[in-house]
Amino acid sequence: MTTLVTGGMGFVGSHFVRAACAAGMHVLILDDLSGGASPSLPLPSGATLVVGDIGDRSRVQTLCREFHVESVVHFAGKIQVGESVKRPELYFDVNLMRSLHLLEAVRQAGISNFIFSSTAAVYGVPEHVPIPESAPKDPVNPYGATKLAFEHALQAYGDAHGLRWAALRYFNAAGAHPDGTLGENHEPETHLIPLVLDAGLGRRPPLQLFGEDYATPDGTCVRDYIHVCDLADAHLVALAQLKAGRARIVANLGTGHGITVRQVLDAAAEVLGRPIPHQIASRRAGDPAALVADPSRARELLGFVAQRSDLRTLIEDALRSRRGGLV
Ligand code: UFG
Repeated sequence: MTTLVTGGMGFVGSHFVRAACAAGMHVLILDDLSGGASPSLPLPSGATLVVGDIGDRSRVQTLCREFHVESVVHFAGKIQVGESVKRPELYFDVNLMRSLHLLEAVRQAGISNFIFSSTAAVYGVPEHVPIPESAPKDPVNPYGATKLAFEHALQAYGDAHGLRWAALRYFNAAGAHPDGTLGENHEPETHLIPLVLDAGLGRRPPLQLFGEDYATPDGTCVRDYIHVCDLADAHLVALAQLKAGRARIVANLGTGHGITVRQVLDAAAEVLGRPIPHQIASRRAGDPAALVADPSRARELLGFVAQRSDLRTLIEDALRSRRGGLV
């Protein structure tokens, strides 16, 4: 039996594919390569790539039958908060409309298990941190709104059609595979750790540090960084549970530890052995002061405890992949 992995050439998806194949699974990757991945990137043994659109219902149905797909892990999507504000049509198209076509194709193909990449952005600006799953869901941008809307579709498909589903709400995905052959390669790159490392390596201009007047310990924003390999492992456990009959999993994936932007800069400087060139800039629109997961439910339901998400390991792994020349 095969697991269909949409967006399996992207940052989190490619790490999941690696982990799934290492666990002996057969994986069919469906990716339109819009994230910039090359179709000639070597795939792990057990993985097959089909370049195509998640919204192409009849093709998805044909692929599901041809490859005997029994489960879907849906990573494909648009992920930039700022872009989602400027071009909401893109986010509603890919993250909602095309994703609904995928979901319907999967239902018609009789597939029972579906895992979805959701996000902490569904919570908007939280009243309190750490954030439990029961916190109000009030997204403040189209990115978070489209992810939440798809969670609602999963709930409805679960209730009406018996689909077993998981929505895994990632906090700040970071790091890279420790062997240096996979990494974070968004185009354009907007995420903190790759930008900090590139500034430190002299590959990009100094980092713009977006605001140091927040009500946080050092005035910079607090985030919960989670290693991409930890995320991949959590998906494997969730998938095993769905296959074993669990009907529904909604869980935060984070560490529960908040880290400031300054702490990231300091840790990167220590790893690189030189200061990170940076300038203080004004706040970035839409940035909450602090986003930290309450990871209790993931621990209780999935036995999930992050293994590689301490700040130094995250930065060392990210640096190895950037130096590896792949990113
Ligand atoms: N930051 C800078 N300078 C930069 C880039 C980022 O100071 O050049 C700061 C941001 O202001 C923020 C922190 O670094 O305080 C982290 O920013 P990222 O862009 O790396 O990540 P975000 O916290 O904005 O976004 C992440 C995910 C989103 C998700 C969001 C959920 O990338 O997909 O968390 O809350 F929606």
